[in-house]
Amino acid sequence: MGWWTDRMLPGITDRILGDERIATVRAEVCAGLCGDIVEIGFGTGLNVAHYPATVTSVTAVEPSELSWEMAQPRIAASRTSVVRGGLDGQRLDLPDASTDAALSTFTMCTIPDLDLALREVSRVLRPGGRLHFLEHGLSSDPGVARWQRRLRPLNSRLGGGCQLNRPIDAYLDRSDLRVERLETGYGEGPKVGAFRYVGTAVKPTA
Ligand SMILES: C[S@@+](CC[C@H](N)C(=O)[O-])C[C@H]1O[C@@H](n2cnc3c(N)ncnc32)[C@H](O)[C@@H]1O
Repeated sequence: MGWWTDRMLPGITDRILGDERIATVRAEVCAGLCGDIVEIGFGTGLNVAHYPATVTSVTAVEPSELSWEMAQPRIAASRTSVVRGGLDGQRLDLPDASTDAALSTFTMCTIPDLDLALREVSRVLRPGGRLHFLEHGLSSDPGVARWQRRLRPLNSRLGGGCQLNRPIDAYLDRSDLRVERLETGYGEGPKVGAFRYVGTAVKPTA
């Protein structure tokens, strides 16, 4: 699947996730970000246009070379400084407590060891720093969840490892972060891939 994942998937993902209706939610999720932030699974830079002026710098963590290439015009058009700071959200190349906020959109489904990635996010966040997230995952509707389970292997093969049925809330609950806002519900598209988890989680101060 190298050719598919490396050469085809970034363009397909960019087109699907570049939907204008999703852009509205991206803007909501990016609101309130400030200071030096890390974005895991930066992709083709679809969040760049939504960074508020309060964001000073972005460390972009993205393994796909083509996605990073595709992101360049968006980065060039932005006033925010964006630097590629690593390839893997499971091992962030940043010091402890060095980051004011973190951003993840449609990435927690794909990172192989999400518990590890959330530990890394927590490690690099300063106390009081927030993770802003917009993710898809396990539906609360048992009928949809059944289809998510059936389609998961195929979707994972076609979607670069994307797991349709991750319980994002459970991953966050057992992380070192404290969920302070979480909204769930269906977004656009077929229900199996459209159950969203949107919100923020904070690194406790003590
Ligand atoms: C579905 S795309 C979402 C891209 C972008 N966040 C967005 O909202 O448009 C998932 C992204 O996660 C990236 N990814 C996969 N494994 C990763 C890992 N271990 N660490 C960080 N990012 C990863 C993929 O290359 C891809 O760009």
